Formats: sequence, C-alpha cells, structure tokens
Amino acid sequence: MNWYPGHMAKALREIKEHIKKVDIIYLLLDSRCPITSMNPTVLEVIKDKPTLYIYNKSSLTDLSALKPLITQEHYVIVDALKRRNLREIISKTKEICASLLERQIKRGYKNYPLKAMILGIPNVGKSTLANALSNKRTASTDAKPGHTKALQWIKIDESIQLLDTPGMLWPKLGEPKVGYHLSLAGSIKETLLNKETLAYYAYNFLKEYYPACLHFYRLPHENALTFFETLMNERGLNEHQAYTVFLNDIKNGVLGGLCFDVCL
Ligand code: G4P
Repeated sequence: MNWYPGHMAKALREIKEHIKKVDIIYLLLDSRCPITSMNPTVLEVIKDKPTLYIYNKSSLTDLSALKPLITQEHYVIVDALKRRNLREIISKTKEICASLLERQIKRGYKNYPLKAMILGIPNVGKSTLANALSNKRTASTDAKPGHTKALQWIKIDESIQLLDTPGMLWPKLGEPKVGYHLSLAGSIKETLLNKETLAYYAYNFLKEYYPACLHFYRLPHENALTFFETLMNERGLNEHQAYTVFLNDIKNGVLGGLCFDVCL
C-alpha cells in the first residue's frame, strides 16, 4: 500500500533546509506511544542537533508505564491542551542552550532569541503546543482541510522563536503494532487500517495490560466476540458503530490513562 502522502515528502525536504538555522529541536511525542511516535526519518535528520524530547498529552497516558520507557537525558512531560508543565520547556531550552547563549553574550548579543523547531507526527499536538506557548491562536501547519501546510515562525517570548512544521510520518511503519498504536492515538486514519482488526487488537491489549478498563462498560467481556456482540445489542449498534465507539473511547481517554507502548 503506497499511502505516504507527497506533502510529507515535501515537508521533510523543507525541514532539512531549515534545520541548519535553528538552535534546538523540540521533538514532540505522544505520551501514549512514546516509542512508536518517534519518527525514525526525523531522528536521521536531526542527528546530533540539541533536542528536547517533549512527551505531550500526559493527561491521556499512564505515567507509571511511560516513565520507564523514556531514555533521553533532556525531556519534559507536558499536556499542551491542559497547559500542564509548559514552563519547564522554556527552562530546559535555556539549560540545553546555555553554552550557546554564553557565546552570544560574549559577542555582544545580550538578548539572543533562541530558535526552536517543533517536529512531530500528525495530531501529536504541535499546533496546540505552539498556541499554548505563544498564548495565541495561530494557523495549524497540518494538511487538514482548511489548514495551511507551510512552515511558520511563532514568537513565544523575547527569548524564544518557534518554527512550527507539518506533521510527518515515515514511508514504512514496520511491524503492525506501530500502525495500531499510531492509529489508537489518532495519528493515522483508521480508514487506512481495518477497523475490526484494530478494535480486536485494542480489546486484547486492554485485556492483557489494563483489564480494569473493560469494567467501564459493565458488559460481559471474557472474550472479544462476546464483548462486541453485547455492546452492539445493548446500545443498538451495528458492528462498525460498536468498533467506532470502543476505539473513540480509547482515543479520548474515556477508559483512563493508557500507554500503548508498554507492550513493546
Ligand atoms: P498537530 O498540530 O500535531 O497535528 O496536532 P493538534 O495541535 O492539531 O492536536 C491534535 C488533537 O490533539 C486536537 O484534538 C488537540 O486538541 C489534541 N491535543 C493536543 N495536545 C493535547 C494534549 O496535550 N492533551 C490532550 N488531551 N489533547 C491534546 P481535536 O481538535 O479533537 O482533533 P482530533 O483529535 O479530532 O483530530
């Protein structure tokens, strides 16, 4: 299946051009899939550029499962929508760029504005974070209907400027779990995957790692078939609708905080 959209290839070329001009990368990751939301193509592009790993959507994850999966030295766990922990992004940026700032002061630039580039997969919260940091409502850079696709600079404050970029995936996602986790997090359209396969995967995942979540439905759930059949009957849904309800509940955090990558 050739699903890799042309605008993502174009965005990658533009990012490669702009990366030389920035001082630090903000690599935005989804706290529900801290490993699978890490784009290997982007990692190749950023190489040894100073990077702050930002684990977003913390209100939707299971923090006790997330924390052991984090391996980077410089990271923050935030929730852009609920504006949790955003100040730490600014303080860590200054910490990471301390020697650069010192050099600039020696050169006579007292107020050198650091240039940060935000990178991340679609829907990980780049625009929400950029808006929260700048306290403004700016256009999204993602290729959704009515949204622009250009890179754009956003002033966070006097000390930091942010380059927002379009969301990017990579051409070969690898093992199916990667696609499932990105789909459960809302970064890949479910239509690209078989909804039934995804719903069964999600059911089996919950049963093994978060069995208490299934009690939410107050339905028999010894196995997937019984669970989905009862969900359909109880709520007057067809199969497709039952899968959609279940997958949306997971995506929207209705079942509580989940970290899908705990099973990797
Ligand atoms: P993007 O620019 O990286 O593509 O992501 P964007 O900011 O547009 O955010 C995608 C969705 O994720 C939005 O939901 C947004 O509200 C939500 N979101 C972003 N950051 C956070 C966060 O820290 N916590 C939570 N809980 N949600 C967050 P949406 O408008 O409902 O879009 P959709 O999910 O229906 O696509």
